[in-house]
Amino acid sequence: MEFNFTEEQLMIQESARDFAQNEIAPSAVQRDINAEFPYEIVKKLGELGFMGMMVPPEFGGAGLDTISYVLAMIEISKVDASVGVIMSVNNSLVCYGLEKYGSPYIKEKYLIPLAKGEKLGAFALSEPEAGSDATKQKTTADKDGDYYVLNGIKNWITNGTTADYVLVMATTDKSKGHKGISTFVVERGYEGFGHGVKEDKLGIRSSDTCSLTFENCRVPAQNLVWEEGKGFNFAMNTLNGGRIGIAAQAIGIAEASLEAALKYSKQRKAFGQEISNFQAIQFKLADMAVKVDAAKLLTLKAAALKDADKPYYKEAAMAKLYASKIAVECALEAIQIHGGYGYVREYLVERYLRDAKITEIYEGTSEIQRIVIARALLDQK
Ligand code: CAA
Repeated sequence: MEFNFTEEQLMIQESARDFAQNEIAPSAVQRDINAEFPYEIVKKLGELGFMGMMVPPEFGGAGLDTISYVLAMIEISKVDASVGVIMSVNNSLVCYGLEKYGSPYIKEKYLIPLAKGEKLGAFALSEPEAGSDATKQKTTADKDGDYYVLNGIKNWITNGTTADYVLVMATTDKSKGHKGISTFVVERGYEGFGHGVKEDKLGIRSSDTCSLTFENCRVPAQNLVWEEGKGFNFAMNTLNGGRIGIAAQAIGIAEASLEAALKYSKQRKAFGQEISNFQAIQFKLADMAVKVDAAKLLTLKAAALKDADKPYYKEAAMAKLYASKIAVECALEAIQIHGGYGYVREYLVERYLRDAKITEIYEGTSEIQRIVIARALLDQK
């Protein structure tokens, strides 16, 4: 594995860092308090090429590699993990899936505006009774001439009220179990497509999460992605890349926690000296630094394998499992180092903890990642 980043990768990292610090950070606290969606920021991210980073230029994307995507995701999530998840879903779940499996028609009509950031995407797999057990899809899609008619409910959909296009997994043949699931592009505005209220969340509060409803929603047959019965494989293959994005998001939160803890420990005095002089604090900082680096190495390994077109699903699950765990641990330690100040909004670290927790849940819980890893080890996939 190559440990030196290319000039291009470093340039992307720097440009993401500049944008994050100058344009995202100043309003992050307020957006968190008000649970306010960052419309302007998402628009600018699109203009800068961050919403379709890995899509080839002929389909409106920036044509970059997964390593560049990881580096950018870390920088963005470091200042606002809500913006991180919006960016991650559009890049890894929506654009990647359409580029890999979409027909020329779908690429032209949907992928290009999504990759340019002119339109926003969402990915609808989870249902009220199908979260981790994702094969148990109850949403149906019945063929009717040149249309499929969708009925059902989707849950926990990131970008749910804002996305222009949603990739919806639905059952086209119940008798075939998960091999009877298919994926469709559904446009906001199609009759029968609605959404629930925005969830009032613990963290990533300025991202938009809600349920989606489909009541006799007629979707043109040409919006079928890949082919009938391939929808579950589509979701799994796409989520493998998504897990790299969420691992990077978690690293951003962990790194922000470490930097906040370092800064505070050098300012705060107790017993006549800076608390950074105490081993009790130093050991925490050292452990946090080791965890952040280890998570980066796992995530970059998964990204490098993906870029080399080699199998990476096990490594992506390992990266997400570990990075999400250490994001929570680092945020907790940052709060502990801040003492009472860590428990109030002014010092940001309380938000890092609230934002970190979801990384252990979405795009496959930590328990699901362990299943994926164990099955790979035991050659059971
Ligand atoms: N990569 C590729 N294929 C995979 C896979 C992976 N990581 N994991 C499973 N599959 C494939 C299997 O190979 C199998 O394919 P075939 O039938 O073609 O052979 C198929 O999926 C079914 O697999 P299993 O028989 O192992 O099914 P299972 O029910 O025992 O386990 C599961 C499946 C791994 C638990 C799966 O349901 C799963 O990953 N669940 C978690 C779902 C998830 O991550 N949801 C996230 C929601 S999206 C989200 O959060 C986005 C957001 O908005 C932020």
